[in-house]
Amino acid sequence: MILVTGATGSVGRHVVTELLAQQLAVRALVRNPDTADLPSGVEVVPGNLADPASLDSALADVDSVFLLWPFFSAEGASAVVDAIARNARRVVYLSAEAAAADPASFWAVLEQRIEKSAPEWTFLRPTGFAKNTLGWADQIRSGVVHGPYGEAARSLIDERDIASVAVRALIEDGHAAKVYVLSGPGTVTQTEQVQIIGAAIGRPARWEEQSPGQARPSLVQIFGDESYADAALDTWAGFVTTPERVTATVQEVTGVPARSFSQWAHDHADDFR
Ligand SMILES: NC(=O)c1ccc[n+]([C@@H]2O[C@H](COP(=O)([O-])OP(=O)(O)OC[C@H]3O[C@@H](n4cnc5c(N)ncnc54)[C@H](OP(=O)(O)O)[C@@H]3O)[C@@H](O)[C@H]2O)c1
Repeated sequence: MILVTGATGSVGRHVVTELLAQQLAVRALVRNPDTADLPSGVEVVPGNLADPASLDSALADVDSVFLLWPFFSAEGASAVVDAIARNARRVVYLSAEAAAADPASFWAVLEQRIEKSAPEWTFLRPTGFAKNTLGWADQIRSGVVHGPYGEAARSLIDERDIASVAVRALIEDGHAAKVYVLSGPGTVTQTEQVQIIGAAIGRPARWEEQSPGQARPSLVQIFGDESYADAALDTWAGFVTTPERVTATVQEVTGVPARSFSQWAHDHADDFR
């Protein structure tokens, strides 16, 4: 039995679908079974990662767990990780590339705790998710996206590729104690991302540069926290001079090349229309 947390999210939903396609027993942890809208064949179990006691039924008789941590702080993570480690042999944790740079980040703290308690673990450290660009959908419809650091070059990854690697790590041997940095097949600047989305929906769209100071208030609103807004600005500034890392790990693990951002934009065109 494989437990998928974040099963209604952008990665977890694909993990569930791929596992079901392989005729495996899949259980999904969701906060609200009535709205989960998951495929038939998956056992849907209610639970909340903020409440370790609520996870008992989801963890019963589980072999492997796909874990994501949906919060911006590691508070409460130890109890959850320990409960998982008491029940499951294998944990595949959706971390982030940023874990390497900041050992105090919640991603890194979770990794440290999992490494300490889980019998077998694999860490997935993706770069930026392609779906982050959905935040531009309203501006794309108006034809102009305003933002800072248009020349920031990102190796955005298709969430389906993260899920495919997760599935391999969940069901195959040979991935224990591996840290997989996952990215798209190349880098695309933010200015290019907007043009690519425009081409995918058949309606031109362009980037209009804002100064970091102009962008900051809306970023604080989006992230709900000044330090996250400033960290995002610093990260994008860095990607102007040093493009985000590109790896071949998706292909190495799955045997299939990572999807391009153009492919992702084409497949999500309706979300921007
Ligand atoms: N976006 C990026 O660029 C990026 C890059 C690297 C790493 N990451 C990491 O990726 C993870 C997010 O993955 P995602 O994008 O696939 O998720 P997502 O689409 O944002 O969805 C969040 C998932 O978490 C579940 N969830 C939220 N609160 C929960 C709670 N209290 N208890 C149990 N489940 C809860 C939601 O389920 P319900 O709402 O249905 O309960 C949903 O399935 C985060 O840990 C993030 O830090 C993101």
